[in-house]
Amino acid sequence: MREERPIIALDFSSFDDVKIFLEHFPKGEKLYVKIGMEFFYAIGPEIVHYLKSLGHSIFLDLKLHDIPNTVRSAMSVLKTFEIDMVTVHAAGGVEMMREAKNVLGDQAKLVAVTQLTSTSEEDMRNCQNIQTTVSESVVNYACKAKEAGLDGVVCSAQEVKLIKAATSEDFLCVTPGIRPAGSEIGDQKRVMTPQEAHQIGSDYIVVGRPITRAGDPVAAYRAIKTEWIDG
Ligand code: C5P
Repeated sequence: MREERPIIALDFSSFDDVKIFLEHFPKGEKLYVKIGMEFFYAIGPEIVHYLKSLGHSIFLDLKLHDIPNTVRSAMSVLKTFEIDMVTVHAAGGVEMMREAKNVLGDQAKLVAVTQLTSTSEEDMRNCQNIQTTVSESVVNYACKAKEAGLDGVVCSAQEVKLIKAATSEDFLCVTPGIRPAGSEIGDQKRVMTPQEAHQIGSDYIVVGRPITRAGDPVAAYRAIKTEWIDG
């Protein structure tokens, strides 16, 4: 199911910066925002409660990876935050992912991180001793996430078709690395436009700097949203 709102990655260094950014938007407009581990560790659950109090949907990207019992306990705490989406590492294994999903139930989408986009094929072979291509490993992890009952994966838009073919059409693909045509790529290596991501079948797009660093963040958000919805 495609989510019409692009998820805005709130990669700011202070709580005040987040508040200032959100004040650009009309009061009452409900956004979908992503909080990463750095911000969550620095500020804590307060940031989640603040965003919820404004009515925003929250993707808490904490990438949990530990023994099943610990992840289950951690997830039972996160569940009380009433977030909308949360991540675990598929490398934690099927049992770990299943425990996490069992605790969370249908309250939030649980999606797995497969191979990080910063991991090269060489890293994967040397460090993880996985002797396949990165794409094959990503698809393998996606299948394990599906087996564990997860809702989907975070992946590059380039991998959406392969993942859906190996899992199912309704297995969610959450795709960062999105850049409107003509905008700066920054440190992202492989990017797609919102329109391309729509056409390729992404269910959610995650967009940070093209919105957060825009001169007019609301106009940038609206333009990206339109391109994403219209495809
Ligand atoms: O600013 P930008 O649009 O590149 O932000 C993308 C967001 O998605 C960042 O928060 C980044 O950490 C996250 N992300 C990513 N690639 C992944 C997983 C997460 O860019 N594979």
